[in-house]
Amino acid sequence: MKEEHKGLYYMQGIPLPETPAPGTAPAPWGQTNIIGKAIPRVDAYDRVSGSAVYPSDISLPGMLYGAILRCPHPNAVVRKIDTEAVQKMPGVSAVINASTSEADIQWSYSNDIKTKLFDPICRFEGEALAAVAADTLYQAWDAVRAIKVEYEVLPFITSERKALESSAPYIHKGGNRVKPAEMYERGNIEKGFAEADVILENTFRTECQIHVPVELHGCVASWDRDNLTIWESTQGVYSVQSRVAEVLGLPLSKVRVIGHYMGGAFGSKIQPGKYTIIAALLAKKTARPVKLFLSREETLLAVGNRPPANIKIKAGIKKDGTLTAIDFSAIATGGAYPAGGTSLLDWLAKDLYLCPNVRTETADVYINAGPARPFRAPGHPPCSWALEQILDALAVAIDMDPVELRLKNIPKHSQAREGNPPYTTTGLEECLVEGAKSFGWQEARKGVAENGNKGYIKRGVGMASALWVAGGGRQPSTVIIKLFSDGSVNLNMGASDIGTGTKTVMAMVVAEELGVRPDMVQIENADTGTTQYATPSGGSKTVPTEAPAVRAAAIEIKRQLLVMAAEDLKVEASSLIFKGEEIVSKIDTSKKIKVTAVSGLKKTGLVVGVGYRGPNPEGKVVNPFAAQFCEVEVNTRTGEVKIIRFVGAHESGRVMNQLTYDNQVIGGITMGIGFGMTEARVLDGNQTGKLVNKNLHDYKVPTALDVPADILSVRIEPDDREANTTGAKGLGEPVTIPTAAAIANAIYNAIGIRITQTPINPLQLVQLLSDNRKEG
Ligand code: MOS
Repeated sequence: MKEEHKGLYYMQGIPLPETPAPGTAPAPWGQTNIIGKAIPRVDAYDRVSGSAVYPSDISLPGMLYGAILRCPHPNAVVRKIDTEAVQKMPGVSAVINASTSEADIQWSYSNDIKTKLFDPICRFEGEALAAVAADTLYQAWDAVRAIKVEYEVLPFITSERKALESSAPYIHKGGNRVKPAEMYERGNIEKGFAEADVILENTFRTECQIHVPVELHGCVASWDRDNLTIWESTQGVYSVQSRVAEVLGLPLSKVRVIGHYMGGAFGSKIQPGKYTIIAALLAKKTARPVKLFLSREETLLAVGNRPPANIKIKAGIKKDGTLTAIDFSAIATGGAYPAGGTSLLDWLAKDLYLCPNVRTETADVYINAGPARPFRAPGHPPCSWALEQILDALAVAIDMDPVELRLKNIPKHSQAREGNPPYTTTGLEECLVEGAKSFGWQEARKGVAENGNKGYIKRGVGMASALWVAGGGRQPSTVIIKLFSDGSVNLNMGASDIGTGTKTVMAMVVAEELGVRPDMVQIENADTGTTQYATPSGGSKTVPTEAPAVRAAAIEIKRQLLVMAAEDLKVEASSLIFKGEEIVSKIDTSKKIKVTAVSGLKKTGLVVGVGYRGPNPEGKVVNPFAAQFCEVEVNTRTGEVKIIRFVGAHESGRVMNQLTYDNQVIGGITMGIGFGMTEARVLDGNQTGKLVNKNLHDYKVPTALDVPADILSVRIEPDDREANTTGAKGLGEPVTIPTAAAIANAIYNAIGIRITQTPINPLQLVQLLSDNRKEG
């Protein structure tokens, strides 16, 4: 009975990948047994049953609740704070603000501008001014509301264009430019335009999109003498540890950060927040654990967004579809602090298509709004909105199919990087060709041309392509695998699973190398006290960074087992291979031993394998590529747009798990629909400067009614032997890049109107349709 159970740990009789000799790098996988299959999440049961403990589920004995007082004005100086009465309110244990000594510390949004944790100058609505810890959350909020503050309210700026006018009030000393505009130029832009047969120019705008993770931002902080433990909803426990240690002046060894589960982030939890520090200070002052999670309103105000962008783009093309010049300029804003308002905003213009003459200029300015944080593919979706629409317009102008036009301009080298290094693979061509085939692009376009536009409901199809600048993964990572005496294994890694399926994919890597079933892998992750070093899960680099380290650790286990088994079998270790739960001789198949019978394993109790992430290939670029296609129906009476279907063809190197791959494609398109059609931060620029839609009724994330049921994920999988030892390049971010532009192009195809501003909502469309009728 017991023996039978042990057998179930292994996939029976499957030959496992060759074990490379010590000191030699593993060859990339060829055919795989488990990798690439559709395997359900290893933690699916825990997630859906509620047994998974998220940081917001943590409840400790004696725990207090924290709440933060935030400035209600977009720009104000705090003259006086009176907390005296509040200290005596029922349940209140502690109040901290700028004048309480423990809270008089530096906390800067960037290195360039030094500010205090509770700074007297509030440059955005929602800036933190004071905090309370109380027995219950209600008592904490009552106390926060009872704090009396005298403000000197200052004039505000909520528009990045107005911020540069000479009459604009300065948000920081020295003016409203974060830094001089960044310039880039290659080739000769004038010559490029002179060679063009057609030149088009347009201006575009994308609105600010705010991260809306299901789990709010926050943590639980607890001190044991001088040891601080924080359970935080985060993308990276080590990034929280290092920032908290730095701000509080603690050694890393005194800060333990745990984040076993987390409910979404999209870039906004790649770093800790002021809330993390505040929770730690309140816990220290009260000598009790403190739970501090923000409200949805606070999350919408203060912990990140995708900056709005104003883009001007001019592009020239020859009749045969050769791009000759691109001129791109943008003004964007990361809010009230240097927060990457223009990060990567021009990258696609510089690098997606072959073009010898390119000029870009990006200006980052301050406004009185919450600081930006990285948001799924920073900079790329706004750039795609402009670039992919101008390309669509050029295709119309030279009467060429937009897929054809893109196929003519596919780069094999990165043009924007020093020395023009080649990509390990550019799957863009396959994405375009296979995506178009799966979508039925030719037929659909013909259908629209012939009979799509007869009634008042018009049909159209559109497409857009993309690359993602990062991905690839090259960050340091250490992973430990333990093989227990019964042959089951424990995987120990620092990386967070931010909901993308990282744990499942890593269990599959272990399974691929060791032959154990993925669901038999115990995983310990995201705890600086007990797991290994990892950078935050972001940049679509988690799988390409961690998977090779996991693979290396598994190979280390195999090497040790082979040496031990060789002693038992009295053969050379190099003659042995793994087959399911057995180690067998390649030469004499009668010589074999079960893994669990290896005497070395019995002697040591367990085998430990340590794996590290090796470097990426020298002089090569590892980037993912994509093409998306969609069909829409536009109601020309109401301005409503219905997305009928989407096809996402994505090349991210090797597909690790078909289910998590499809999840990312469907999820990324959903988020792109939100960016294009429903989401926008609305600041009242005239009277108050305040965010008017700080709730989920007025800030509209797409719902099931906005997203088509028909989203097809097309798997483009070149054999990338160079990217890393697993061939995976990362999929989280590229998917959300081209979606909005593909929709806008489809709407143009349906009604002949270019929509230059997000969101594409009925309000805007009815106006455009009516303007269009007048112009007739
Ligand atoms: Mo991402 S925006 O690097 O989590």
